[in-house]
Amino acid sequence: MLKVTNITKKYPKKIVLDPLSFEIERGEIVGLVGENGAGKSTLLQILATTLKPTSGDIYFNEWSYQKYKSKIRRKIGFVPQDIAVWEELTVKENMVFFEKLAWENKSTSQLQQICQDMHLDRWQDPVKNLSGGMKRKLNLAISFIHDPDLLLLDEPTVGIDLKSRKEIGAYLREQATTHNKTIIYTSHDMDEITALCDRIITIGKDPFYKDLLKEAGKEVLSF
Ligand SMILES: Nc1ncnc2c1ncn2[C@@H]1O[C@H](COP(=O)(O)OP(=O)(O)OP(=O)(O)O)[C@@H](O)[C@H]1O
Ligand SMILES: [Mg+2]
Repeated sequence: MLKVTNITKKYPKKIVLDPLSFEIERGEIVGLVGENGAGKSTLLQILATTLKPTSGDIYFNEWSYQKYKSKIRRKIGFVPQDIAVWEELTVKENMVFFEKLAWENKSTSQLQQICQDMHLDRWQDPVKNLSGGMKRKLNLAISFIHDPDLLLLDEPTVGIDLKSRKEIGAYLREQATTHNKTIIYTSHDMDEITALCDRIITIGKDPFYKDLLKEAGKEVLSF
C-alpha cells in the first residue's frame, strides 16, 4: 500500500535521508528506529505529506504523492512528536473540535468510544489537568477520528506508563489485524518495538540498532 523509492532529504547544512526505498503492505506494523537526529521524524513528516523530500517518489496504493497529495492526506493519521491539543478545552471538546476538521463525521458517542478503546476516561476534564501520558493518548485518539488507512505515529508512547503502553500496543495490534490498518511508528523502547512490530526499519549512521535488533530475530531493513 505504500511504496517509497529513492527518497532523500537534504537540509541546507545536512543530508538527513540518503536514498531510502521500501514497501509496506496493508495491515503491517512497521517500527522505525535510529539514534537521535537520524531522521525518523523527517521521514514520517514526508510520509505524512507535510514535508517534501528533496528527491524520490512515494506511492500510496497507486497514487503518486506528487499528484494526489490532498487525496492521500485524508487516508493518513499523523501523530507528530510534539503533543498538539487544546489545553483549555476538555477531552470531549478536543475530540469534537478535531472531528469538525476531519473528513469523516463521527457522533459524540463514537468519539468517546475511541477514547475508551485507548483507556482514556477523562472525557469531561480540561486537558490542562491531564498528565503528559494522557495527553499523548488524546493525541493518538485524535489521529483515529477520520478512520485513516495509514497511521504514522512519532514516539506515541513516550512518557506513558507500562500498563498504558501495553493497552495502546494491544489497540494498535487490533487495528492492524482486524481493521487492516497500516501503522508505522517510532519508539526508543526496543522491547516495545520487537513485541509489536512485524518488521523494523533502522535509519542513521550508527549500526547499534541494526545489530541489536538482528539479535531479536526480527526482519530488519537498514539504511
Ligand atoms: N527544518 C529543519 N532544518 C534543518 N535541519 C533540520 C530541520 N528539521 C530537522 N533537522 C535536522 O535533521 C536531522 C534529523 O532530525 P529528525 O527530527 O528527523 O531526527 P529524529 O530521528 O526524529 O530524532 P529524535 O530521535 O531526536 O526525535 C537532525 O540533525 C535535525 O537537526
Ligand atoms: Mg524525532
